[in-house]
Amino acid sequence: MAFPAGAVAPRARWRIIRLHGTDRPLLRDAVADDLPALVALESTFPGDRLSARQYRHHLRSPRARLRVAVSEGRVVGASLLLTRSGSRRARLYSIVVDPACRGRGLGRVLLEDALVQAGRAGCGRLGLEVRADNSGALALYRGLGFTEQQRLPAYYDDGMDGLRLDKATDPDGMP
Ligand SMILES: CC(C)(COP(=O)(O)OP(=O)(O)OC[C@H]1O[C@@H](n2cnc3c(N)ncnc32)[C@H](O)[C@@H]1OP(=O)(O)O)[C@@H](O)C(=O)NCCC(=O)NCCS
Repeated sequence: MAFPAGAVAPRARWRIIRLHGTDRPLLRDAVADDLPALVALESTFPGDRLSARQYRHHLRSPRARLRVAVSEGRVVGASLLLTRSGSRRARLYSIVVDPACRGRGLGRVLLEDALVQAGRAGCGRLGLEVRADNSGALALYRGLGFTEQQRLPAYYDDGMDGLRLDKATDPDGMP
């Protein structure tokens, strides 16, 4: 069944409602104390990982928005949004969920939050690049209405193609 862009499919809505219950993670801006947890999360990422040094840089940068999802006092997910001076297009540079917490709607919540954050930063669109073989991430992005803009041949170090996707942002949403 197809849903209009931006709409939430019933199954996903159920998951989000569940996240709003006792185990609902808190989304907040990352702070320096989150660094070890961020690096640990990144180690579960398939290739092209962000280093502690890069995270430190993004934490200080006014152009970066680093968000973490915290559940029971533990960082269980993160997203990194980058903006550029003079550009109305933000870039989702990274999104990752702790493997033990995947499949429960957290990636979707982080992505919806990124759309809101990008909109509030004055960006009308949120773009991202994803490995063409990352079917899980692609399902997440497409499910939220991201559409493919461009194929990027051999974009990744191992020769894998990338896909550039984007979507209009949501400045009025409730992260
Ligand atoms: C991609 C990632 C962030 C998804 O996080 P998640 O919390 O498991 O995702 P959600 O539970 O919110 O899933 C949302 C939707 O994405 C899709 N999806 C997510 N993972 C999937 C998978 N492995 N296979 C198929 N579909 C998947 C589902 O369609 C789901 O929709 P549904 O709720 O209707 O079932 C997570 O798998 C991850 O951290 N992967 C490693 C890092 C990575 O690849 N990041 C993206 C780089 S561009």
